Amino acid sequence: MRRTKKVAAGVFPRLWHASRLFRSPPELEVPPARQAKIRRKRRHLRFQANQQTWRPHQRPCQRESDSLHPIPKYFGVGKRRAEAFEPLIGHGIFTADGASWEKARKLVRPSFSRGQLDDISTFEPHLQNFLASLPAGAEAVDLQPLFQSLTLDVSTDFLFGESTNVLGSAKAASAGRSFADAFDNAQKTVVGAFALGPVGWLDPRSNFRQDQKTVEAFVSGYVDKALNRDTNDTLDKQDGKYSFAEEFAKLTDDRAMIRGGLLNLLLAGRDTSASLLSNLFFVLARRPDIYSKLAAEIRMTTKTTKHIPNLEDLKSMKYLRACINESLRLHPPIPRNSREALTDTTLPVGGGSDGGAPIFVPKGTQVGYQVFSMHRRKDVYGEDADEFIPERWTERNLRPGWAFLPFNGGPRVCIGQQFALNLASYIVCKLVQRIEKVESCDSRPWEEGLGITCSTKNGTWVRLYQHDE
Ligand code: HEM
Repeated sequence: MRRTKKVAAGVFPRLWHASRLFRSPPELEVPPARQAKIRRKRRHLRFQANQQTWRPHQRPCQRESDSLHPIPKYFGVGKRRAEAFEPLIGHGIFTADGASWEKARKLVRPSFSRGQLDDISTFEPHLQNFLASLPAGAEAVDLQPLFQSLTLDVSTDFLFGESTNVLGSAKAASAGRSFADAFDNAQKTVVGAFALGPVGWLDPRSNFRQDQKTVEAFVSGYVDKALNRDTNDTLDKQDGKYSFAEEFAKLTDDRAMIRGGLLNLLLAGRDTSASLLSNLFFVLARRPDIYSKLAAEIRMTTKTTKHIPNLEDLKSMKYLRACINESLRLHPPIPRNSREALTDTTLPVGGGSDGGAPIFVPKGTQVGYQVFSMHRRKDVYGEDADEFIPERWTERNLRPGWAFLPFNGGPRVCIGQQFALNLASYIVCKLVQRIEKVESCDSRPWEEGLGITCSTKNGTWVRLYQHDE
């Protein structure tokens, strides 16, 4: 009975708001003179995120993803993102809007849909280098920079066709390391420029021009290799390894476009994956109960510590997936985001004296949404929303819908989502196979370290106790 009342209390106000949209188109509620005034005054709008993106002139309202038109028309990533990021990563899927976003998405989509990325055995050599980098005894180690190196090695391997190998042999590592340092430093400048606008470029600590050159030269080498290989075709690859650079080179010979495609993907995929792993191990090191339950599931599935898990193994491990989901929920690697209104439009709630009426959003307005807060909503996740409880994904009938957005949603949903989940599952599985016990050696609570992604501010300091071989 109490539950029915609760559901009714949640559903009826929503139906009521929706019915208002049926009765009169929301834009008619704002007189034209007022619209012009709002447009002048309100360029930045922040609101508690809604569960859906609604569009004007439509009854009933729809999510962007339901649209027959693939290009989001009402909201885009906007000029501000492009101005901040393009000097480093060029024009590409992450920075573009409209037709040019569609073109960029078309360039990368085949690589994600053909199943080449399902070959998770390509992670193994990098994982072995990672394991070899761990201290042999129970020395304290910060896993965060190691995860960043691991995800860089893995990402460059499938993007460029050759890994930076920063966890591997010294010679390859020195070029890879210079690239990684330049890319990391330049990203910091870009984040400043994104947050502060043009003033952000004035950061005296930044060596942006030099970093940009290093990054461009490094990636251009792989672009040229891919283009030459494509035209000569005599140098057919012996190792049969899949590379995005080569796939892009089959679709275009525009060097800048290929370079932009690769760097956009590297930026989107590398730090996000490293943040997920760092955040997850931060918690696991403090929760031996969760770690041993996870280890038991992995032991049951993989039988021996030497077994290399395949995709089927990973998919069958429900508790592993629940731990990953719970980390993405409580510590989302992209904790906030924004969109720019590409045209005058409306949102279904947020207006009126009680915030329950539709709200007019003038073209050019920045609309921010806080995924971090959405993921801690007590009305969706329960009173224990602030706690790390993987069981909420396995034992409760949890259907958060649009209140769980670690990978965003709609037409601009993360294109690497499945790959990222496979990669994280593989790494967690292999690490837990090797490590009998993990202990935190940092008494501070989790604090956010905000850059392009959100990771643990103080690193992931742990002591690892390996299984006897
Ligand atoms: C845990 C790991 C990851 C998380 C949490 C994550 C999250 C996200 C989020 C929230 C967005 C939306 C950004 C926005 O539109 O403002 C996004 C977009 C994107 N992600 Fe991921 N991502 C992850 C891994 C990856 C990986 C591994 C790749 C590629 C190899 C990737 C490629 C992309 C691309 C290309 C976009 C832009 C899509 C578009 O605008 O059409 N991501 N990701």
